Amino acid sequence: MGSSVEQNILVTGGAGFIGTHTVVQLLKEGFKVSIIDNLDNSVIEAVDRVRELVGPDLSKKLEFNLGDLRNKGDIEKLFSKQRFDAVIHFAGLKAVGESVGNPRRYFDNNLVGTINLYETMAKYNCKMMVFSSSATVYGQPEKIPCMEDFELKAMNPYGRTKLFLEEIARDIHGAEPEWRIVLLRYFNPVGAHESGRIGEDPKGIPNNLMPYIQQVAVGRLPELNVYGHDYPTEDGSAVRDYIHVMDLADGHIAALRKLFADPKIGCTAYNLGTGRGTSVLEMVAAFEKASGKKIPIKLCPRRSGDATAVYASTERAEKELGWK
Ligand code: NAD
Ligand code: WQD
Repeated sequence: MGSSVEQNILVTGGAGFIGTHTVVQLLKEGFKVSIIDNLDNSVIEAVDRVRELVGPDLSKKLEFNLGDLRNKGDIEKLFSKQRFDAVIHFAGLKAVGESVGNPRRYFDNNLVGTINLYETMAKYNCKMMVFSSSATVYGQPEKIPCMEDFELKAMNPYGRTKLFLEEIARDIHGAEPEWRIVLLRYFNPVGAHESGRIGEDPKGIPNNLMPYIQQVAVGRLPELNVYGHDYPTEDGSAVRDYIHVMDLADGHIAALRKLFADPKIGCTAYNLGTGRGTSVLEMVAAFEKASGKKIPIKLCPRRSGDATAVYASTERAEKELGWK
């Protein structure tokens, strides 16, 4: 289904993992897309692959701009030459461990970059934003499933950037109610486009479970360290909510449609997860079954700062965005 009027969307961080999958869906849904990305954690080939996947006609509606949100001039250049109906804001640094060692880099990139973006959006009267938040804002939740109105707390500098940026969004909307901002709290995004042409390929040794398992499967790493086997869960390993990246991409389309359709949306947070918890050992077993490959594991102590079990309540997104 294409949109009737061609809406023009700015996608920050559109060359990255979630960005590329979302851009494919946006183009297929009839939106025009401009990406701004500094390629700090991505490669231009990923954008070429997006073009290849959508074909030559839809590719004409995609523009790539090399730029850094920390430079206001780079954002200004885009807004001064075209009108954007809304912004999907993925650009940010996301490695929890790195943020503990180098918090200034995280505050500079994630906070300054986003403030520059809001300033420029305000200047050009573009006041609709879909923001990439994270389940990290729930910290170690006392109850599960996580509901959007739970108390928010951050456990590390990366998490604090997400929490601060949520607060900033609520304050901006509080002061200027015409802003419409959707905060999407992703749980654990995994997977790839069915073509296999785009996906997640982090630089260096992966921090996250799924890319780590994948690298063990292809022989790049010898075994998976399973962090924690004495959690009070069924098999002793920690439980998370793994959401397929294509479903997540569709969640962004649903959020955009809601922004355009609902003047009363204000600044609202939605969980994007499956609502189901899966343990680390269940993930390994599922991967072995699907790939036919054995994943050697080593049972290790818990990773510091990890919660026992985190999964989403999906009610609000289902009811208000029509997304599941
Ligand atoms: P990613 O690193 O693959 O994509 C982010 C993109 O932003 C990269 O292409 C990077 O080059 C770009 N970027 C970073 N800083 C920039 C800047 N200052 N200016 C311009 N471009 C910049 O990450 P992803 O997994 O696609 O995550 C996208 C967003 O979702 C991030 O904000 C992340 O914090 C959030 N998020 C991710 C996860 C996850 O597990 N993948 C979970 C929750 C939230
Ligand atoms: C999942 C489970 C690990 C690697 C992180 C961020 C969060 C969000 C999503 C951005 C845990 C275990 C992992 C390994 C393992 N990102 N594990 N061996 O920690 O739930 O969330 O990514 O916003 O903010 O904190 O995801 O994939 O790192 O770990 O046993 O080699 O897998 O201990 O239980 P996490 P993860």
